[in-house]
Amino acid sequence: MEVKGVVLAGGTGSRLFPLTRAINKHLLPVGRYPMILHPIARLKQAGIYKILIVTGREDMGSMVKLLGSGREYGLEFTFRVQEEAGGIAQALGLAEDFIQHHRLIAILGDNIFSEDISPFIAGYLRQETGAKILLKQVEQPQRFGVVELEGNRITGIEEKPLVSKSSFAVTGIYMYDKHVFEVIRSLKPSDRGELEITDVNNHYIHLGQMTYDILEGWWTDAGTFSSWKDACRMTWDWELPL
Ligand code: DAU
Repeated sequence: MEVKGVVLAGGTGSRLFPLTRAINKHLLPVGRYPMILHPIARLKQAGIYKILIVTGREDMGSMVKLLGSGREYGLEFTFRVQEEAGGIAQALGLAEDFIQHHRLIAILGDNIFSEDISPFIAGYLRQETGAKILLKQVEQPQRFGVVELEGNRITGIEEKPLVSKSSFAVTGIYMYDKHVFEVIRSLKPSDRGELEITDVNNHYIHLGQMTYDILEGWWTDAGTFSSWKDACRMTWDWELPL
């Protein structure tokens, strides 16, 4: 059994308009690197060398121009086009042929963090089946998927709730077995017309097959002006493990 990586870099980036009208969000600078190199570097640090990049049709050209085959980083990239921004789960569904019967670690292309996730992945691989998510305690959980906890068990996730049931956000770092693709096929679009990754995670929670770990290091998404600014400031001196 191998573990393969998936970086999701589609979507419209509308919360960063007009910056992202002509440039894909994941190509914007964060510190001294284009945003997408941050999650890619964390996968490499964890020993994951085969990585699928999903992005939109308009941006695939510039994404390949930046990343190439992966040879210069000692990585092997595969690319897939998401035709429209139909949601994170839809983008992940495009990874099925690439993953086959292996396990996968998916990272959202706008997630920037300081921690080496190797120990969490090792823990996940000791799990016989199912999924694992990484959580982070944050000040404004209602911007994210938020978990509900009973003791140390997750009982559900709410996507951007008005009132949050905990201060733990679901980060965009997800670990799944091959059954995730059956789950994605069974999803119906949400009210905003997207296939939601939160519905995928709730499915695993209801099966009793979801575990979690908590990130202790620094973490943010970089999808809004304020979080992108935080990400740029924080990472200015970072040298990525690429
Ligand atoms: O960052 C963590 C949060 O990411 C989680 O807490 C939420 O549960 C999860 O839904 C997500 O929320 P966002 O509001 O940040 O999702 P957003 O639509 O901004 O998409 C985040 C990334 O997912 C984006 O950088 C690229 C990828 N994406 C998104 C969509 C909608 C795709 O690849 N394709 C898509 O169609």
